[in-house]
Amino acid sequence: MKTMKYILASALCMLVSTACSGSKKSESNVNEPEAQEATAEAVKKDGKTLVVFFSHAGDNYSVGDIKVGNTKIVADYISELTGADQFEIKTSKYDGMAYRPLCDLAKEEQQKGELPPFEGSLENLDQYDTVFIGGPVWWGTYPQVMFTFFSQYDLNDKTIIPFTTHEGSGLGNCVKDVKKAYPNATVTGEFSMYGHDVRSGKKEVEKWLNKIGF
Ligand SMILES: Cc1cc2nc3c(=O)[nH]c(=O)nc-3n(C[C@H](O)[C@H](O)[C@H](O)COP(=O)(O)O)c2cc1C
Repeated sequence: MKTMKYILASALCMLVSTACSGSKKSESNVNEPEAQEATAEAVKKDGKTLVVFFSHAGDNYSVGDIKVGNTKIVADYISELTGADQFEIKTSKYDGMAYRPLCDLAKEEQQKGELPPFEGSLENLDQYDTVFIGGPVWWGTYPQVMFTFFSQYDLNDKTIIPFTTHEGSGLGNCVKDVKKAYPNATVTGEFSMYGHDVRSGKKEVEKWLNKIGF
């Protein structure tokens, strides 16, 4: 019975990971001129920008055993192209885990609403006006460890720009969940990219950043 449950959970996890909903390389809400304008207005021209992200290196269903996680690659493009500082949400909890057991653990964490701790702390949050928030989609939304960050740091006075890497879910529920975590923040300009496309995706990221006023 336990084996059956494991097989079903793993199959489902692979299904969400491969259920590509289209051939688009990336997805953004800023393809409409009004949306671009609104985001560009919300981003303070002389303000400071931070990228907060989580990314899991290691066994990845689509791109094999990766040394650098997909979302970290996008976070690094953002910093390189905008000069934004970074805070990486780091935990050793998933180190060395194979894809399927990680899927099971992530599902369990989500079902139980667990908030796994992360390393380090973010200083001088006050200096930032705009915060990019990025992570992989795990079972339809950000990994639980990102919700731990949301529960500890108040970004309600910021402009928040969510982004994801994924294998079919796009932005999933990430934007909705960021808005829920920070009801008084301006959440805008979101962007998502297939994980298997990030290594050749710098131009896409640059296009998105240009559209939202960077
Ligand atoms: C535990 C787990 C759950 C996942 N769930 C989804 C999902 O629901 N939808 C999806 O499109 N991709 C899903 N994926 C694929 C990842 O979102 C994708 O590989 C992402 O680019 C990984 O980013 P990272 O290398 O920065 O961690 C999942 C991957 C893992 C490991």
